[in-house]
Amino acid sequence: MRATLALAISLLGATLVLAQVEQPVAGKGSEQRHDYAELSKAPDKARMRRNPIEGDANGVAAGRKLFEQHCAECHGATGEGGKKAPSLSAREIQEATPGTLFWLLTNGVVRRGMPVWSKLPEAQRWQLVMYLRTLRMETPTDSTPKTEAK
Ligand code: HEC
Repeated sequence: MRATLALAISLLGATLVLAQVEQPVAGKGSEQRHDYAELSKAPDKARMRRNPIEGDANGVAAGRKLFEQHCAECHGATGEGGKKAPSLSAREIQEATPGTLFWLLTNGVVRRGMPVWSKLPEAQRWQLVMYLRTLRMETPTDSTPKTEAK
């Protein structure tokens, strides 16, 4: 029993030493939580812009395909985030207006590794925006058609 305790304590000690050794490297700021500050820079006009294909029933599915083609390599297969890019299911993304996300895709954050997507046709960028906005949900609800009240 005492031996186990002693082992545990020495392990803890070793971990602390390691943590101290690593600190100067990790302390550079690269490991900080992503702040999504770029989204707050969208001009009002861009922010308020309406999605012209809002009612498009295929928008989300098309957006998902585009995402797999263009975005998954950095942001992960379902936008969960990866080594190269932050998660896209974060609250900051989900609270952003469609216009803000469209603006971000159009302009990128080039100096920090997020490419510009202005070469994709506008409709495709809106489809991507529609897909991004489903990432907050655990289960996709886009497959359940809403019956219109008559
Ligand atoms: C080469 C890697 C790469 C690819 C490909 C990529 N991204 Fe990003 N993306 C990034 C990085 C890095 C950031 C973080 C930028 C920053 O620090 O603001 C980012 C940020 C974002 C953000 C959040 C903006 C913010 O403030 O951080 C969104 C939304 C986004 N990407 C969507 C997409 C979509 C949609 C695609 C596909 C069309 C895509 N990204 C493709 C690297 C990538």
